[in-house]
Amino acid sequence: MYLQNRNRILRTTPAIRSMVAETILTPADFIAPLFIDEGENKTTEIASMPGYYRRSLDGTIQEVKELWSLGVKSVLLFIKCKDELKDNTGKEAWNENGLMQRSIMAIKSAVPEMYVMTDVALDPFSSYGHDGIVKDGEIVNDETVEALVKMSISHAAAGADMVAPSDMMDGRIGAIRQGLENHHFTNTGIMAYSAKYASCFYGPFRDALDSAPGFGDKKTYQMDYSNRIEAVKEALMDVEEGADIVMVKPGLPYLDIVREVKNAVRVPVSVYNISGEYAMIKAAAQRGWIDENKAILETLTSIKRAGGDLIATYFAKDAAKLLA
Ligand code: PBG
Repeated sequence: MYLQNRNRILRTTPAIRSMVAETILTPADFIAPLFIDEGENKTTEIASMPGYYRRSLDGTIQEVKELWSLGVKSVLLFIKCKDELKDNTGKEAWNENGLMQRSIMAIKSAVPEMYVMTDVALDPFSSYGHDGIVKDGEIVNDETVEALVKMSISHAAAGADMVAPSDMMDGRIGAIRQGLENHHFTNTGIMAYSAKYASCFYGPFRDALDSAPGFGDKKTYQMDYSNRIEAVKEALMDVEEGADIVMVKPGLPYLDIVREVKNAVRVPVSVYNISGEYAMIKAAAQRGWIDENKAILETLTSIKRAGGDLIATYFAKDAAKLLA
């Protein structure tokens, strides 16, 4: 047989395969989400996220040190708010002595180089478990945006490097940028959850923070998973309003959206490899149905290959160790 091209030549040995690999993962690609709890020396495994924990601040700081030593440059903070502090205004979200604000300060003083990102949305603080303020059963946009601005400013004041609004209200990126400017937080970035879909795969996360919506669902603000073009519209608007990074979320079932957004914008694109995606790999691995370590690296590489410049993932530490 005579062949002009033999594509297998570039697959012959590990050396040539690594020479021509188009996508190379590094720990600097990862953003490690952290769940923070009140208390001391407290570690709680999330039932639906085996091997993932909610920790009090002392343990969180150890975790941040370990992540930094493994080459992970960024953490994304979520806090579990006590029930008695939740209400419909979400005002605990901008309490300058709140758990989030104390966590930001403590982490920045323990590991100043770590790039600290913070979740901005009202759901962990809302008695209704919704990302915004509720009036007559509706999640009201403009009042929620005012709350998110206060929340973002309080995170910046505590020392956050970047705020990450995950709420999907209209106009919040522009309002947050303006709020940060007005308060002279000119070095604080915004990572916009631009294309965040109403997804069943958030279930385990809501267990972690006890933040499941008390009524209804999030379909009046998070996107309909039938839509693709709308994701591009959202991302372009967020860039125009001042987003430094735009995000697509979830990750794996939405890699087409990742590529679409990547081709449309001129800012870095992040992807959230979310709790349900973590749970699926863990569950299959626990049953011996897939090889967990291989599944982690293949998944994260596929997200980067699709166009994810940064990946928020519960596998950040495991993957960084595997890459070492
Ligand atoms: C809420 C928020 C959610 C996640 C991040 N921020 C859940 C939701 O929208 O209900 C999900 C992350 C994950 O599932 O890993 N603002």
